[in-house]
Amino acid sequence: MSSMKLSSGHTVEAVEDEELEELKRLFPGPITKNSLIRLQPNGWFFPSDYLTFCDKLYNFKLYPTDVIVMTFAKCGTTWTQELVWTLRNNPDLNNPLADKPLGERTPFFEADSLMYSRLVDTMATEGTHPQVELLSQVNPGADWRNGVNWQLAEALQHPRTIKTHLPLELMPNDLLKTTKVVYVCRNPRDCILSWLHHNRLFKGTDFTGTLDQFIDIFIKEKWLHAPYSTHINTAWKVRDNPNLLFLFYEDLKADILGQLKRVDNFLGTNRTEEQLKNVASHSSFPEMRKRSYESEGLKVGEAKDRYNKEVHDKEGGFFRKGVTGDWKEKFTPAQIAIIDQYVQDNLPEIPFKYSV
Ligand code: A3P
Repeated sequence: MSSMKLSSGHTVEAVEDEELEELKRLFPGPITKNSLIRLQPNGWFFPSDYLTFCDKLYNFKLYPTDVIVMTFAKCGTTWTQELVWTLRNNPDLNNPLADKPLGERTPFFEADSLMYSRLVDTMATEGTHPQVELLSQVNPGADWRNGVNWQLAEALQHPRTIKTHLPLELMPNDLLKTTKVVYVCRNPRDCILSWLHHNRLFKGTDFTGTLDQFIDIFIKEKWLHAPYSTHINTAWKVRDNPNLLFLFYEDLKADILGQLKRVDNFLGTNRTEEQLKNVASHSSFPEMRKRSYESEGLKVGEAKDRYNKEVHDKEGGFFRKGVTGDWKEKFTPAQIAIIDQYVQDNLPEIPFKYSV
């Protein structure tokens, strides 16, 4: 595997031996039935399904009207997807397409890396899968075996808004020459808590370990989407590029209208104050939470099939708290010190905000 060279220039290493055993123990969900890999340089961490699609992703044709919402996981991706899509397509809140699920309006570019093996199993046993159905509606000629999500992105009506957790390094080479990127980062303490919750909530990962173990995995940068530090540092270095807008989750929380004005300016959407207020209220935490449940025919507070019900009932669903500073309730001083040391060593330039 190590001799394999990808279009991005990275080489591939398998995660092996004790490290693999530990991850399989801590994340017993189906995601670790796959083998796990790292790409070098930087150690980008993926299930091996990534290898089936990475060259297609790297060679994906981008257009100047595309907008990429780029984040490390749990940094405010979903919120920003709705903000950007609504700003571009629904500033008067009268676009019927807004009723479609967010994931359909703003596809998750590399999601096949995370779900393809399970999708293959479902197709083999049940002969159908909602994502395959969707692909056949929007792009009847497409073969799902080539990957569903990047093909959904490809078939999206222009102007397209696309979500990714891929770092700049793994996106098409011409990304910042062609396309606008809205990059969002979140302070590592809240990000870790939210990411821990996500990995416990979803049956796909089913994290069984402790907060200490999760912090250790995070700072050693050995789980999906890692390394958090390089992901953010690379975007920070190009924050003055006219095609990249660097946002902080905490600033969105503190002053959503002010930050929306920056996004409006960056994208050239030229919305009125009234329209920006529409976008902000339509994308608020309670509104998005309510719509997310309703889109699955559930009441807020009812667990979805793919969630661990106990975790959901006790700690909340995907839309958990939506605040800055929850870490104050959850971390010990020793845990904060470990994370701060990681930040000092790896992210010295980033002006993180830990409360708003
Ligand atoms: P918490 O787990 O801290 O509540 P991502 O979309 O990148 O996966 O990030 C998810 C985090 O953003 C979760 O954080 C979620 O609750 C929060 N979030 C989602 N929608 C939001 C919104 N409209 N406003 C504020 N936070 C939101």
